[in-house]
This record gives sequence, C-alpha cells and structure tokens, in this order.
Amino acid sequence: PPPEGPSRVGITLETFILEGQLGFPAATGTFTSLLNQIGLAAKLVTAKVRRAGLARLLGYTGQTNVQGELVQKLDEEANETLLSVLGRRRHCAAVASEELDSIRITSTDRRAKYLVVFDPLDGSSNIDVNISIGTIFGVLRKETDGEGATEADFLRPGRELVAAGYILYGSSTMLVITTGHGGVHGFTYDPTVGEFFLSHENIRIPEQASLYSINEGNSTYWSDEVRRWNAWLKEEDKATARPYGARYVGSLVADAHRTLMKGGIFAYPADRKNKQGKLRLLYEANPFAFVFEAAGGKASTGSTRILDITPTELHERVPLVLGSPRDVDIFESFVRGDR
Ligand code: AHG
Ligand code: MN
Ligand code: MN
Ligand code: MN
Repeated sequence: PPPEGPSRVGITLETFILEGQLGFPAATGTFTSLLNQIGLAAKLVTAKVRRAGLARLLGYTGQTNVQGELVQKLDEEANETLLSVLGRRRHCAAVASEELDSIRITSTDRRAKYLVVFDPLDGSSNIDVNISIGTIFGVLRKETDGEGATEADFLRPGRELVAAGYILYGSSTMLVITTGHGGVHGFTYDPTVGEFFLSHENIRIPEQASLYSINEGNSTYWSDEVRRWNAWLKEEDKATARPYGARYVGSLVADAHRTLMKGGIFAYPADRKNKQGKLRLLYEANPFAFVFEAAGGKASTGSTRILDITPTELHERVPLVLGSPRDVDIFESFVRGDR
C-alpha cells in the first residue's frame, strides 16, 4: 500500500517517479530513468495523436503488420516514437511491439537490464472517427546475462512485470502506471505546460458494479456458457443489482480504463472465430492484468489467471476478462458451468 501522509495530488510524474513514490523498493537510477523515458514517449505520442486530423496522419499506409491488419499511419508513428525514445538511453535492452514481427534490440550494453513490451497505438480502428485510443506498456527485467536480449527473455509470465500501465488519449490524455507495489496512480497531461500531473492517487476498483463491456456482435460465436452469462446480466433482479448497463468503445484502453474507474467487467472471450480470443497476451492482456490486480481487481481468461500464463510466442492471443473481483468471479462460475 502507498505510504500514508498528505495527498500527493498535483506533483508531476517525473517527481513522483524520482521520489520512488511508485513504491518500487530498489528504484535504481536506470529504472527511474526508464520510466521517465516512457513518460517522454507519452508526451510525444499525445502531440501526434492530438493533431492527427490536421497532419493528415489518418488513413492507411497500405502495409499490413504481423497481425495481418492494415496499419494506420498513427500506429507506425507511435511505434517509431517509442522505438527511438527507448533506444536513446542504455537502460532498455530490447522491445517487443505489436507492430514488429520480432523483438528489436535497443542496446547490447551489459548495463541495459530492462525489456519493454508495448502496443504503440491501441484501438486503431477508432483513429479516423476521433474516438479514444491509447498506448499500452509493460516493463520486465532482463534476467539473462547474454550480450543481446533474445525472444526467450520476453516469454515470461506477466507476474514478473516490474511496471506496467497505459496512456489513454481521451477527452484528456491520462497516463496510468503501477510497479505492482505502492498502488496504481493516474496522471493527467496539461498541454499548456507539457507535464503529467498526479490526478488520481491510488486508484482502487470497486468490489462490484453493474456495468459490462463486450462486443455483442460476436454473440453467435460465443460458447453456450458465455451466452448464458450475457443473458443473466440482462435479467431484472434488484438483489444482484441487475440488469447491468452496457458500454463498449472498441478500444481496449478506453473500455479497460472505464472498468478500472467505475468497476464491473470487460470481456473479450474466445469464440468460434477467434479460438484463442483476439487480444494479445504480452502487450495487451498482461499490462492490464498487472494494473487491475494492483488496483484490487481480477484478470483471467475466464478460467486461468492471466499473470500466471507462460507465453510460447510473442504475439499469442488470449481470452481476456478484466474487472471487479465479484464480477470476474461470476463470469468464471458461468464458464465452469456452476450456474
Ligand atoms: P489494436 O488497435 O492495438 O490492434 O487493438 C484493437 C483491439 C482492442 O483495442 C479492442 O478491445 C479490440 O481490438 C476491439 O475488437 P473488436 O472490434 O473485434 O470488438
Ligand atoms: Mn492492431
Ligand atoms: Mn491493441
Ligand atoms: Mn495496436
């Protein structure tokens, strides 16, 4: 739990990290500097996102990425920005990105002991309709001594993350970050001074809330158990605060952040079309699972804790359920067939 004492609201992200307020026990200089690099990348990407319409960064590049998706210019711009910022210092040994087929070595310096995973631009189908999008990141320590990092260095369960978070380019730009110790904290960007200021100290998710977030357009492909859970939510029953309200933006960062702040449940289950679900384990599910658990929430595939999954490949997909502990428990009881 974060240290007691007066509220820290209003201090900048840099100060908060520098003072070790993120509760990372051995906040070495390089870890602090790496987190500040991520803060810098967030400022650079938010500047591009905010003027995407003007700079005609919309529209497709005509290329496809390893996911087989048509890459929007902003995806590439955000990816390049993160690569150049993280490659500038010698703290980050390598990165894994949704937009890169394989890992990218950023330093072979023996002192480079961090690995960064990121989804540079999440929710890219919403870019050209001006709906909230985001960036997702996670930081691992490189545990092997070899010169350069290898893909195997990244294939570690999410519980080994040393920091994770996201940036939401919404009505305001907000960066949410945790080291797993010392709480989950939200910083809101003030473009007039170019700083992130602590605005949401020690975010805790409610135990339960009557909100659910899922793409109902996939319901014919869901398992019977998920369909029964979905129908149960919409029955009227005051004792269990039903029916639940529906909210779905189609950007994971927006849907997950709202669920973290208000409670309830977000689900992207496996279905007949996506047998492993759609979302990627390394740079979408793990960072959010890490944040949700640090805020008192739960994150599972519907049956397995996300943070306990050992990845077998960089871009592997998992079914993802994030939310209030009570609401995730109910989802899991339907998947188990208990209800
Ligand atoms: P990305 O834009 O990084 O590829 O991620 C898109 C993901 C995620 O943001 C969102 O939750 C999901 O796609 C929405 O998928 P559907 O449109 O199938 O609901
Ligand atoms: Mn994509
Ligand atoms: Mn994404
Ligand atoms: Mn993306």
